[in-house]
Amino acid sequence: MADGKLWGGRFTDDPAAAMVELSRSTHFDWALAPYDLQQGRAHANALLRAGLLDDQTHAALLAGLDQLQREVEQGEFEPAPGDEDVHGALERRLVEIAGADVGGRLRAGRSRNDQVATDLRLLLLDAATALRADLVDLCDALLIQAEQYAADPVPGFTHLQHAQPVTLGHEIGKHVQPLLRDLSRLQDWRSRTDVSPMGAGALAGNGLGLDPVATAADLGLSVSFANSIDAVSDRDFVAEFLFVTAMVGVHLSRLGEEICLWASTEFGWVHLNDQFSTGSSIMPQKKNPDSAELARGKSGRLIGDLVSVLTMLKGLPFAYNRDLQEDKEPVFDAIATLRLVLPALTGTVATLRFQPDIAGSGTTDGHALATELADFLVRAGVPFAEAHGVAGKAVRAADDAGVPLWELDLEQVDPRLAGAAECLTVDAALAARNHPGGTASEAVAQQLAGARKQVDQYR
Ligand code: ARG
Repeated sequence: MADGKLWGGRFTDDPAAAMVELSRSTHFDWALAPYDLQQGRAHANALLRAGLLDDQTHAALLAGLDQLQREVEQGEFEPAPGDEDVHGALERRLVEIAGADVGGRLRAGRSRNDQVATDLRLLLLDAATALRADLVDLCDALLIQAEQYAADPVPGFTHLQHAQPVTLGHEIGKHVQPLLRDLSRLQDWRSRTDVSPMGAGALAGNGLGLDPVATAADLGLSVSFANSIDAVSDRDFVAEFLFVTAMVGVHLSRLGEEICLWASTEFGWVHLNDQFSTGSSIMPQKKNPDSAELARGKSGRLIGDLVSVLTMLKGLPFAYNRDLQEDKEPVFDAIATLRLVLPALTGTVATLRFQPDIAGSGTTDGHALATELADFLVRAGVPFAEAHGVAGKAVRAADDAGVPLWELDLEQVDPRLAGAAECLTVDAALAARNHPGGTASEAVAQQLAGARKQVDQYR
C-alpha cells in the first residue's frame, strides 16, 4: 500500500485501522495541494539559497514539483488510502517522480506545522478574491434595481409595521451597505493574513539557515512571522475569515427574508423569475422563493462554521496540536456555501420584477405621515414632546372618525395645526428628507452613486 506517512522510524507497530481513519485528512485537505506545491517550490529555493542543495538537485526538485502539479491538475495523481494528509501524499509522489535522493531532500527545515499554516493562508487569500467578485456582482444587481426606483414611494417599516414613507430605491439600496462593509472587512483581513509562517519549522524556527523573509517574498506574501511558536499556532486568520463569511451569511439571510416577504401574496411587491424559484410537488399553483429561503437558511451553517473554529481554538496550548486540523472543514464549507448562494441570490435579485404601483399603494396606511404633523409643530417652535402628543391626538381623532389624517379638520384638533395639511403628503415627507443618506429621491440617487463608486473600487 502507498505510504504517505511522514514518520515511523521510532515505532514498532503500525497504527490501528481506527487510528488511521481518524487521522486521515486527505478527503478534505486535498484542496491545499496547489498551495502546498507552491510552498514546496519556495522552500526548494530557500534550501538552494542556504547552500543545502546544488543547482542540479534544485532543478530536479522543481521539475519534479512541476510534473506533480500537472498530475494533480489533471487528476492523474490522487491521494491513496495510506496517505495521512495532503503533505504526505505529495511528498510520497515527489519521491516516486524525482527519486529518494532528490525528493527526500525537500523536507529539510520545514514541518507540516509551518507548511499547513502557509498553505491555508494562500488558499484563503485566493478564496477571498473569489468571494469579493461574487459580492461585487450581488451589489451590482441590487444597485441596478435600486437605481430604477430611486423616486418610487413605498411604506417603510419598523417592527414590521408601517412607519414612515421611504423610496423603493432607498429600501433596495440599504442592502448594499452591509455588503460594502463585508467587502471592507475582507480587504482589511488580508493585511493580517498576508504573512508567511515558512521557516518557523515545527515551532522553534529552522536550524539550517533558511531565511523566512526571502521565502515570504518568494511566496508573494508581504511579511514573515514575528514569533515562530505563534506562527504555527495562529489560526486567527481562519476565525476572522469565518466571522466575515458568517456576517455575509447574516446579511444574505436578511435580504432573503425581505425577498420572501416582498414576494408574498400579502405584499405583492415583486414577481420572482421562474429561473430562480421552485414549485410544489402537490400544489400546482405554487411558486416559491427557495433561493431566498436557502440564503436565509444557510446562514445557520456559516455561523456554525465560525463557532466550530472558535471553540476548537479556545484554551488550546500553543504551538501545533492536532486539534488544528479541524480548522479546514468549517472554512472550506463556508467558502463552498457562499460560492453557491451568492450567484443564485444575485440571479434572483437581478431578475426580480418590482411592482412599484402595488408596493406604493399602501404608503400612507397606518397613519404613516403622523410624524410630519409633529415635525410641522416643531418647525413652529413647539417642543417635540408636546408636538408628539398633539399629533397622537390627531391620530386618535382620525381613527375615531375613520378617516386619514389629511381629511381631519386639523385646526379643530389643535389650533396650532392650521396649515399643517400641506405636510401630509408622501411627496412632502420624502422631499423633507433631502440630506446625505436621506430618502428623498435626490439623496437616494447620490447614495446609490456613492455606493456604485465603492463597488467599482472593489471590482
Ligand atoms: N494534517 C495536519 C493539519 O491539517 C497537518 C499538520 C500535521 N502536523 C503534525 N505534526 N501532525 O493540521
